[in-house]
Amino acid sequence: MLMEQWWRQNASPTFNKRLLFAAEIRGGTRKRRAPQSRALCHPWNKVMSIVEISEKSWQGILKVQEEAYTGVPPEEVDVLKSKWKASPETCFVFQSSSNEILGYLLAHPWNSDEPPKLFEELPRKSAGDTLYLHDLAVSNNARESGIGKQLSSKLIEVAKLRQFNRVLLVAVQGSGGYWSKFGFREVHNASICSSYGTNAKLMSLNVQA
Ligand SMILES: CC(C)(COP(=O)(O)OP(=O)(O)OC[C@H]1O[C@@H](n2cnc3c(N)ncnc32)[C@H](O)[C@@H]1OP(=O)(O)O)[C@@H](O)C(=O)NCCC(=O)NCCS
Repeated sequence: MLMEQWWRQNASPTFNKRLLFAAEIRGGTRKRRAPQSRALCHPWNKVMSIVEISEKSWQGILKVQEEAYTGVPPEEVDVLKSKWKASPETCFVFQSSSNEILGYLLAHPWNSDEPPKLFEELPRKSAGDTLYLHDLAVSNNARESGIGKQLSSKLIEVAKLRQFNRVLLVAVQGSGGYWSKFGFREVHNASICSSYGTNAKLMSLNVQA
């Protein structure tokens, strides 16, 4: 989000109410947060930016990957970079004002109902009308503060802007519930490589009317 947008959103009476609500939670006078309050009030979001990945982003991306994946082994940097090189305009990091990488998303065009294999570089002929989300991860320290939501919204926005028909992904580590919040639905009887781990689900979201 641009600083100007942030200011417009946050300098409103509604935002002040949200700040008050958050203060009450910290003071123990309220049990639950208001919808959206955590995301808007969290310190990460006052300085955040979502930017396209560059060569210098990779150290931070690998650090987040290492923290985020316990159910499936991490992928080699060249494998991850092959997704980025194929489609740099659909790959992003979420970074703090000091350029610390707190989250990333890697997505690329795809042409099949079957997801690409894990641990392998992207095949050359992958162009198609599907935007495939290879990976979305947020640093353990920055979870539950709305960063995943902002990156996921960016993914859907970019898919619409670039006129893909759908966004496809494999939900791993029990993240199916997370994706259903964004409107993704499970594709039943899909063929998914076993390296995605147990309980992996293929999920799809149509983005064109
Ligand atoms: C899944 C992940 C990206 C979510 O990131 P996050 O920044 O913690 O998520 P947010 O704070 O933006 O949460 C957005 C909403 O999803 C909910 N949510 C977060 N993780 C969830 C999960 N695993 N299952 C169901 N809902 C979840 C939040 O409670 C929040 O709900 P609300 O809007 O109703 O308050 C993060 O947990 C992660 O990196 N996981 C490890 C990597 C991974 O498994 N990625 C999925 C690849 S398919």
